[in-house]
Amino acid sequence: MGNSDLMQKNSPFFGPFSAATYRQRRHQLLKELSRQTSSDFVAFFWSGSELIRNNDNHYAFRAQSDFLYLTGFSEPDTMLILQSINGRKFSRLALRPRDLSANRGSEVWEGERLGVERAVKTLGVEEAFDIHQVSSEVEALLAKVPQIFWSFGEFPEWDLKFTRWIGKANTLSRGLPRIQAIGDARIQLHEMRRVKTAEEIKVMRESGRIASLGHIRAMKSLRPGRFEYEIASELEREFKKLGASDVAYGSIVAGGNNACTLHYKTNRERLKSGDLLLIDAGCEFETYASDITRVYPIAGKFSPAQAEVYNWVLKSQLAAIAACRPGAQFTAPHEAAVKVLAKGLIALGVIKRKSVGDILKHKLWRRYMPHGTSHWLGMDVHDTGTYTEEKNPMKPVRLRAGNVLTIEPGIYFRKDDKSVPPKYRGIGIRIEDDVLVTTRGHEVLTAPCPKKISDIEALCGPKM
Ligand code: GLY
Ligand code: MN
Ligand code: MN
Repeated sequence: MGNSDLMQKNSPFFGPFSAATYRQRRHQLLKELSRQTSSDFVAFFWSGSELIRNNDNHYAFRAQSDFLYLTGFSEPDTMLILQSINGRKFSRLALRPRDLSANRGSEVWEGERLGVERAVKTLGVEEAFDIHQVSSEVEALLAKVPQIFWSFGEFPEWDLKFTRWIGKANTLSRGLPRIQAIGDARIQLHEMRRVKTAEEIKVMRESGRIASLGHIRAMKSLRPGRFEYEIASELEREFKKLGASDVAYGSIVAGGNNACTLHYKTNRERLKSGDLLLIDAGCEFETYASDITRVYPIAGKFSPAQAEVYNWVLKSQLAAIAACRPGAQFTAPHEAAVKVLAKGLIALGVIKRKSVGDILKHKLWRRYMPHGTSHWLGMDVHDTGTYTEEKNPMKPVRLRAGNVLTIEPGIYFRKDDKSVPPKYRGIGIRIEDDVLVTTRGHEVLTAPCPKKISDIEALCGPKM
């Protein structure tokens, strides 16, 4: 699929979908929330504001994912209000007004805004008003409804305003608490986000494909002596060339022992011949993330010791992917992965005089793989949605068709770890794919990114 099919030009929608999709999501959430309460209610979602990077220079703005999921709109300083009052359910948007003045911050300086007048028709909300009136509008609402949904902790500066509004609403009602319950709409919303629809899957497949092509470009550009950041720029250039708006998270491009730092971010070092390069990088395409990790030989060929460790991780990853099917517990892929890793740690002579059962029981693999095997993936790289059942937090949720999760086992042998035979020290391997659970089993969304040693070696480095 060419990305032109999915990219809308000249549209206020930052996301790929039509106003009808976002409207349907708002309606579904309103319906879910009305199951929680018999009272009138109102739920608030804030987009976020621009953040200063340094002095008067801002980071590129990208709206908070819950807000984006419900609106597709990505202007800062916007509040979505979902309300159910007297049996009428509808959406209101408080947003920045148009400003064509010469003042700093105006559209002349920063670009066109949608503005209040166009918001209803374009975004399909029932009502729009100027964000500068949000306090008085919210105070009026809080005087009317006994049940509120607020996402505490998401934007602490708004938590403070919100508690003031509540205080005021209760004072206005002469000391009788008007607000009787404050809930959190994220519980229902994140369950919706955890099950991807056919149109979301189409976008995530494209996100996975673009990320795979970025990795392939990085592989082809490998040369001993180049810097980690040079390889990062090759893959990020490919992401953007293919239509991604950004990286989904800071690319990890970690040569040699740097691969053993799980969140290595500096990407400043020079690549050494004979070392491996771990790349954990994915893109954001039309608001959906991909997340791929691969390990490449800098000089084009794995050494026998590197290949041994690599193949154990690959075997573990394939076993975990095979465990992804509807009805399986979320932890099933992880259990499959660590069982193979336990065998690998024995075979490599790293863990001695212990059985696989001992290693699993006492989690002895944790020293060499300190992270989990999976997380949900979607608009956020570590996507929303719980991992345990609501009614029984000790029980893992079951996988459902439409869930997307990563499968990313690893083995990290730090260069200073004396428990590891010297030939393996300084080797860090992680292999990560994005897996969609389907009605019949699964689909690997990042399958275009090679992971067999022979396929990787065929692509790495300069080719005649
Ligand atoms: N790139 C972040 C992760 O793999 O979880
Ligand atoms: Mn991941
Ligand atoms: Mn990753």
